[in-house]
Amino acid sequence: MFLRNAWYVVACDHEVGRSLLARTICGEPIVLFRTQDGQPAALENRCCHRNAPLSAGKLIDDEVQCGYHGLVFNRQGRCVLIPSQTAIPPGAEIRAFPAVERHRWIWVWTGDPARADETLIPDLHWQGDPGWHNVGGYFHAKANYQALIDIQLDNTHAQYVHPTTLANVGAVRATPRVKREADAIRVERLMPDSDPQPLYVRASGFKDARADVWVNWVYKPPTVVAFDTGIAERGSGVFEGNRSRAFTFHNVHAITPENERVSHYFWMSSRSFKVGDEAANRIHEDIRITFREDLEMCEAQQACIDAMPGRPTIDINADNPTIQARNLLARMIEAERAAG
Ligand code: FES
Ligand SMILES: [Fe+2]
Repeated sequence: MFLRNAWYVVACDHEVGRSLLARTICGEPIVLFRTQDGQPAALENRCCHRNAPLSAGKLIDDEVQCGYHGLVFNRQGRCVLIPSQTAIPPGAEIRAFPAVERHRWIWVWTGDPARADETLIPDLHWQGDPGWHNVGGYFHAKANYQALIDIQLDNTHAQYVHPTTLANVGAVRATPRVKREADAIRVERLMPDSDPQPLYVRASGFKDARADVWVNWVYKPPTVVAFDTGIAERGSGVFEGNRSRAFTFHNVHAITPENERVSHYFWMSSRSFKVGDEAANRIHEDIRITFREDLEMCEAQQACIDAMPGRPTIDINADNPTIQARNLLARMIEAERAAG
């Protein structure tokens, strides 16, 4: 069961253009396109005549023509043309989803359109800010979306899953400060005099063997995890808010369920230092290795669950943030279900 009244990232901005793109999210087949004025549009990917997928049809101006018998639908989902007759019968319409372009991604609201409030989209403004260098990607993941969120919320895994990029013994030892809010979970993991992550060292040119390291994140249900993380010279005051000697990364993961076993994993890593430095840009590209390692672990985990369903598992202390995040989402889904 998925949270319905929510924004989900459905595509990267460059994927949606003047052709039809099919993508299923939360079990809903959707067809995406851009209108002539550049606005994203999202319709149910199903013709209400005989159920042909509209993505197999044609985009004509701002309307979609079904490829079977030629019915045409506008961006509100209303049928506006039936080539073989003049009258349009009642009920000749399909679902239209609110769609918004924000922070280099296309977001779709899967619930009640009247409740689609754009201010609920998390603020990720640095992803479109020229003052930041961005590296982004997408994986079609054969894993449950909550498992892909779990791996981001448990930062002790970096030492084992990311040996060449984000390995950090400090995160294994540090106790995170977890703050629960009505619609978010925030975690602060501050690691004074710690081992800096190898990728951050390479990209920044940091010289010391030890650093003040921070890995902070916010989880915005249902699917967005936004990290504020980085390294700084020891004692430079980064934990008190002084970033003058710090190297900051913002890593964002937006993990949209396709169904219970398959997900769309969108990510973007941004840095605010050495912007325009080609050597640093090349090193920053290695973050792709990191997030592919997350993907591979979660896909292997899903295969294990599928092979041995229902086997008992245990919890450990480090699971605190992931359990709180899952509980928060479960409560939101339950509240939505109870409200009908
Ligand atoms: S199925 Fe679409 S026009 Fe007939
Ligand atoms: Fe990871």
